[in-house]
Amino acid sequence: MTASWGGPLLLVGASGLAREVLPLAAEAGRPVLGVLDDRHAELPPSLGGVPVLGPVSSAAAYPDAELLLCIGPGVSRAAVYGRLDPGSRFATVVDPSVRNPAGCPVGSGSILLAGVTITADAYIGEHVVAMPGVTVTHDCAVADFATLAAGVSLGGGVRVGQATYLGMNAAVRPGVRIGAGVVVGMGAVVLRDVPDGETWAGVPASALAPRPVTEAPR
Ligand SMILES: CC(C)(COP(=O)(O)OP(=O)(O)OC[C@H]1O[C@@H](n2cnc3c(N)ncnc32)[C@H](O)[C@@H]1OP(=O)(O)O)[C@@H](O)C(=O)NCCC(=O)NCCS
Repeated sequence: MTASWGGPLLLVGASGLAREVLPLAAEAGRPVLGVLDDRHAELPPSLGGVPVLGPVSSAAAYPDAELLLCIGPGVSRAAVYGRLDPGSRFATVVDPSVRNPAGCPVGSGSILLAGVTITADAYIGEHVVAMPGVTVTHDCAVADFATLAAGVSLGGGVRVGQATYLGMNAAVRPGVRIGAGVVVGMGAVVLRDVPDGETWAGVPASALAPRPVTEAPR
């Protein structure tokens, strides 16, 4: 695990993603103070062996911690980010199996899980989540708060907009631009540019009826 933090880690969001990050932190010997979640009163007292400490607003009580937003949909991740103290520090988590031989930039707060590959001249923004087996090839740009689910493949020069969600095993043709706040269904093959805010699925992918993007895509 590569991580930028100097202090202990505080996870925001009692999610499956948080439980995926916890073993990485343990493997790297990084202390985790616990998890913050606004649903804390309904949750069990611990998640993956660390305590559920309270609501997101209690982050200010842990000034030495570095935060990590573990919330699947990027729109929700961005909304929670907007509620945090502007001076908050964020960890960046990169599984040791990630391949990024060209040293492409990975923004603060991003989480790259096992087997992610980034080839050359690509850019990963802040608070991006790339799940296992994602491939980001040359000249791609993935904007802040985007989520790439397991097995997503981006051809060369693809642009992924802010807080966009690409479902499992979606493939995107080289040079395609996907707008902000888009949801792409699992298994989609995206051949054309996708406008902001739309939901696309299928092979070849086309628009589905609008859906609430704050809900985690299932
Ligand atoms: C695209 C998606 C967001 C749509 O979810 P939804 O809004 O709840 O839509 P529904 O399941 O009601 O399906 C609406 C229609 O789209 C079709 N559809 C849904 N997902 C599809 C997909 N991935 N590919 C092709 N068609 C799909 C359904 O068959 C349905 O068609 P119909 O109207 O002809 O019956 C969702 O199916 C999806 O693919 N989510 C990604 C999940 C994922 O990868 N998660 C990662 C977790 S780690």
